[in-house]
Amino acid sequence: MLNAERSYLSEVPVSGPLQMYVYVHDAILRGVAGYEDRAKCLDRDDAVAVAKFAAELGWFHEMVKAHEKAEEAVLFPALNERFAFVAETYAYDHDDFEPHVFAGLEEALAALQRARGRGDRSEMGDLLYRQSVALHEHMRLHVSKENELLLPKLEAEFDLDEQVQIAAAMGGRFEPAMMGALISWMYDGQVEQDREGMIRFLMRVLPPPDFAKLAQLLAAKDTAAWAQIRRRVPEMQISTT
Ligand SMILES: [Fe+2]
Ligand SMILES: [Fe+2]
Repeated sequence: MLNAERSYLSEVPVSGPLQMYVYVHDAILRGVAGYEDRAKCLDRDDAVAVAKFAAELGWFHEMVKAHEKAEEAVLFPALNERFAFVAETYAYDHDDFEPHVFAGLEEALAALQRARGRGDRSEMGDLLYRQSVALHEHMRLHVSKENELLLPKLEAEFDLDEQVQIAAAMGGRFEPAMMGALISWMYDGQVEQDREGMIRFLMRVLPPPDFAKLAQLLAAKDTAAWAQIRRRVPEMQISTT
């Protein structure tokens, strides 16, 4: 069972170019655990809370889809060039998520928002909860397979330059604004140690002006949290005030 409050990075020790890939996975795992928790406790009679849940889940879905598209456009073809019958199993999961997991969740949410009367809302809320359990479990298995089987294979079979190219090509599929939103979302949910690791990684790989812009964005979100980061990364020589 996943937990929305913890880190999953310690289970996937990666320090190379593909580190960002694991940060995204970590955020997805925390995300699905969080949606299950929230669906269980969601006040089905509170239309504002239900609308907020729907909006956040919609955003999460878009981020997951963008991540999957990057895997399908870059990572899976790179694997296919060298190994038969590896990437297909992961692509199969992606195709399964849309009609069987996300569609079910979205239908349950729409039904809850349409429901009139407490009895109907209670029934649709229970359905939403069951669908959120399905999202959690499907995604847990898929991301765990990528972390525990696919990633070690990538690191073993592709040299460092190839890993850099893969990581850069995957990252390059995101518009700057979307990348900022993605990093900001990951940062929000991370434990402090992972925030430090992600900042150190980004400081290493981003051009200084891009890193400075990102630092401004993160610093503005929560000045106390950013002060902690500055203490943990004293070599970060940029002004965010
Ligand atoms: Fe995937
Ligand atoms: Fe993935």
